[in-house]
Amino acid sequence: MAAFMEKIYDKAKKSPKRVVFPEGNDERTVEAAVKATALGVAKITLIGTPSKISEIAKNKGFSLAGIEILDLNNLPNIDACAKEFFDIRKGKVANMEEALAIMKKDVYYGAMMVRHGLADTFVAGAVNTTSDVSRAAIFLIGMKPGIKTLSSFFVMILPDKTFGKDGILFYADGGFVIDPTDEQLADIAVTTGATYRELMGEEPNVALLSFSTKGSAKHERVDKVIRALALAKAKDPSLNIDGEMQGDAALVPAVGAKKAPGSTVAGKANVLIFPDLDSGNIVYKLTERLAKAEAYGPIYQGTAKPCSDLSRGCKASDILNVAAINVVRLQNSK
Ligand SMILES: CC(C)(COP(=O)(O)OP(=O)(O)OC[C@H]1O[C@@H](n2cnc3c(N)ncnc32)[C@H](O)[C@@H]1OP(=O)(O)O)[C@@H](O)C(=O)NCCC(=O)NCCS
Repeated sequence: MAAFMEKIYDKAKKSPKRVVFPEGNDERTVEAAVKATALGVAKITLIGTPSKISEIAKNKGFSLAGIEILDLNNLPNIDACAKEFFDIRKGKVANMEEALAIMKKDVYYGAMMVRHGLADTFVAGAVNTTSDVSRAAIFLIGMKPGIKTLSSFFVMILPDKTFGKDGILFYADGGFVIDPTDEQLADIAVTTGATYRELMGEEPNVALLSFSTKGSAKHERVDKVIRALALAKAKDPSLNIDGEMQGDAALVPAVGAKKAPGSTVAGKANVLIFPDLDSGNIVYKLTERLAKAEAYGPIYQGTAKPCSDLSRGCKASDILNVAAINVVRLQNSK
């Protein structure tokens, strides 16, 4: 495990938050719940079928002590939740029956718990689709003030410690927003800056990436990045952000000095913002393979309280890591 994750665990243990895992009938989720509890990084609520959860624990030799279990077939206040969901999605949900059917889905109920402060964050997606997890997040937790876009980030840990902050780089968005508008790109940049502050405890240097550096190429796609830069600066004037710039100008001091002289970000970026999901997703996967980096994510950001989607191919350790990361974000979120 990377030193980064060890530090996250240590920080999480100091003030563990309540994390709801809505997919309690999933073996990996039960394992993550048991480990998170044993390590003391989070207080866990599992939503599922109690007999099924007990069976998984018995077969694996796990103790469920200290874990809260909610019965998916007998969820507290489910009718009131359905009424609230119906009101939130007025005009978008056909009737109360539909609202009730949605609220009986584990991930929506988990998100409703976060909405009401019964849990501090949810981690789901080992079983549910991205559509359901993201809708639950958007509709029930909602976005941070001033932010309209749910997006995702990766923490990349590179063996070459000369890049970013001792080899740590944040990438966004490599996992959710496919073709961001200039406003969405600005949201992604500002949000990833805030996420960096929450997790690293210091100020980020945010680079808006492009195939152009400071006007070296002219194209509508470059203009979009330039517009996003202006919008991001207006949204968070305290953020050290610059662009548009190429990847080498962002990361390599000599190239940054030559291509973007006077930039406060070029050559020392630790947050890389990609212009679309093609570039963000491709680069994160190539960084993993070619640079032998460890990748943590994608993890949701932009919501009023942290929450996360998982890959359906995830391991128990992925669920545990994301839960611990969200606990630390909660400790430091403003
Ligand atoms: C989020 C998502 C599930 C919504 O799908 P949908 O309900 O079919 O489509 P809509 O576009 O009507 O969106 C529903 C609501 O979510 C909002 N929304 C969509 N994307 C959003 C985002 N990134 N941030 C915040 N809100 C968003 C819409 O504004 C809309 O709000 P409204 O109904 O209150 O007007 C869909 O946009 C999606 O799947 N996005 C993920 C894209 C993806 O697949 N990424 C790659 C994953 S590997």
